[in-house]
Amino acid sequence: MNLFQYFTSEFSAVGVDSPEAEAKLVIESLYQNDAFKDVEKIDLKKFYEVLERRRKREPIQYILGKAFFFNSEFIVSPAVLIPRPETEIMVEKLIEILPENGVMADIGCGSGCIGISVALERPDVEVYSFEISSEALKIARLNAEKLHASNIHFIESDLFASCPANIRFDAVGANLPYVPLSDYAVCQQEVRDYEPQLALTADDDGLEIILRCAGELAGFMKRGGKVFFEIDPSQDTRLQTYLDGTGWKNAEIIKDYTDRSRFVSAEF
Ligand SMILES: C[S@@+](CC[C@H](N)C(=O)[O-])C[C@H]1O[C@@H](n2cnc3c(N)ncnc32)[C@H](O)[C@@H]1O
Repeated sequence: MNLFQYFTSEFSAVGVDSPEAEAKLVIESLYQNDAFKDVEKIDLKKFYEVLERRRKREPIQYILGKAFFFNSEFIVSPAVLIPRPETEIMVEKLIEILPENGVMADIGCGSGCIGISVALERPDVEVYSFEISSEALKIARLNAEKLHASNIHFIESDLFASCPANIRFDAVGANLPYVPLSDYAVCQQEVRDYEPQLALTADDDGLEIILRCAGELAGFMKRGGKVFFEIDPSQDTRLQTYLDGTGWKNAEIIKDYTDRSRFVSAEF
């Protein structure tokens, strides 16, 4: 039996959702990508350590210390949310709409995945990434350094409380906590036991921080600038109606890869 077959069957046996994908990740990260090597000829100590942690539902990205997002590999630790594939849709939209030499905010930057991905694709743009957690910011700064993103600034801040007064944004990406507390109680063990709750939940059916953000942001937008909020599907029309009623224009619901409402955008 080769490494890929063996790791896949062992991950399957402990109930991992995507055993093939995780086997591939472990082989790439810890076994020099040698998927076809005979399992009998390999020291499996490192694999069994990973398997033991997966058995306890620790996410593979925290075990390996990295996660792939957009075109890059990001360092992750339990201080930051593991970047999710659907958030890449927001990155694509930001890259597309930012004007030449524009200014962007990434609010609640976590690992830095949104702001850094835009900064790398659009070196003409200046990105400001805000984050309330100093531990998360350390990871975001490490990622910017590792990926050589130089057109990005990190600011420790509760939303825009520490934003320099004279900045005005052309575009904003906001993936803030939006999980309603009732959903958090029943979410996957990987998420509940290992990812930081500060990154996930908010009061008011998950909308408390997003609504506060929309209010504060109005003071920092350029006329015609655009914001994208990542949301829980249950929040789509409530947020759309709120934005339309509070000085924002053309609030629009955007779907994710599974055709569920995942973002609300609006113009200032
Ligand atoms: C859902 S995570 C998103 C992380 C990252 N942007 C991503 O897409 O993977 C939300 C992030 O917002 C941060 N956060 C929570 N409340 C905040 C606040 N009041 N001001 C700034 N950041 C906040 C959390 O610490 C967390 O890193």
